[in-house]
Amino acid sequence: MENIQHKFDETAEATELRRLYHRIRTEYVKYRKKLFMVTSANVSEGKSTISSSLAITSALYRETKTLLIDCDLRRPTIHKLFKLPLENGLADFLSNKSELDRILKDTAFPSLKVITAGTSDQSPSRLISSFQLYDLFEIFRSYFEIIIVDAPPVIPTSDALFLGNGVDAILMVLKAGETKKNIAKRAINSLADNKNKILGTVINNMKNVMPYSCDYSYYNYKKEKNDE
Ligand SMILES: Nc1ncnc2c1ncn2[C@@H]1O[C@H](COP(=O)(O)OP(=O)(O)O)[C@@H](O)[C@H]1O
Ligand SMILES: [Mg+2]
Repeated sequence: MENIQHKFDETAEATELRRLYHRIRTEYVKYRKKLFMVTSANVSEGKSTISSSLAITSALYRETKTLLIDCDLRRPTIHKLFKLPLENGLADFLSNKSELDRILKDTAFPSLKVITAGTSDQSPSRLISSFQLYDLFEIFRSYFEIIIVDAPPVIPTSDALFLGNGVDAILMVLKAGETKKNIAKRAINSLADNKNKILGTVINNMKNVMPYSCDYSYYNYKKEKNDE
């Protein structure tokens, strides 16, 4: 464990992830921003991987009360990463099939709760564009310090546009060597009035293995001294 720990803490990827986390933490500390949406131009650019890694990093940092919400109702993956049931999630709540306390799921990390995408007969765009979702975001503001929203990509659907209206800041993931400049520009423009909420872009290098696994054993480490 000691060796894994040491190796884990020292990787360039882990360092970059902590750097990214501190970027959003600064927004929280300075401007009380709490809701951070992670999106990208297209599918499979690393949104869910980065959202979950960021959420775990947050929960492990000074026991920050953190919530991760899978808002990608069309291609949900957060439940798989955390080995949680898909059911009783966001879609169930938004279609009045589940109560608030049932959708907040515990994880192996005491400070991290997860809301999986859930299931519903209603269309994802209808559910995501409901005002009930914004009300839900507002409720979560009083219970959590950092809320990470794993959003759908911006080009294929308008879901991310709606979500953008309800969050405080947006992180745009770009896949190294693949996301074309004009596509990235189009993605940013398609966020319309919420373009100014973009905090920055995250370059995801798919060639390297991710620093974090959602396996609990990798996370049993002490927080760093002088880390803020
Ligand atoms: N930096 C990375 N290194 C290795 N594999 C990655 C990395 N980022 C993502 N992946 C893998 O690529 C696939 C798509 O990533 P995912 O986070 O689900 O993308 P998205 O949510 O944007 O669709 C997954 O199988 C994931 O494990
Ligand atoms: Mg995803």
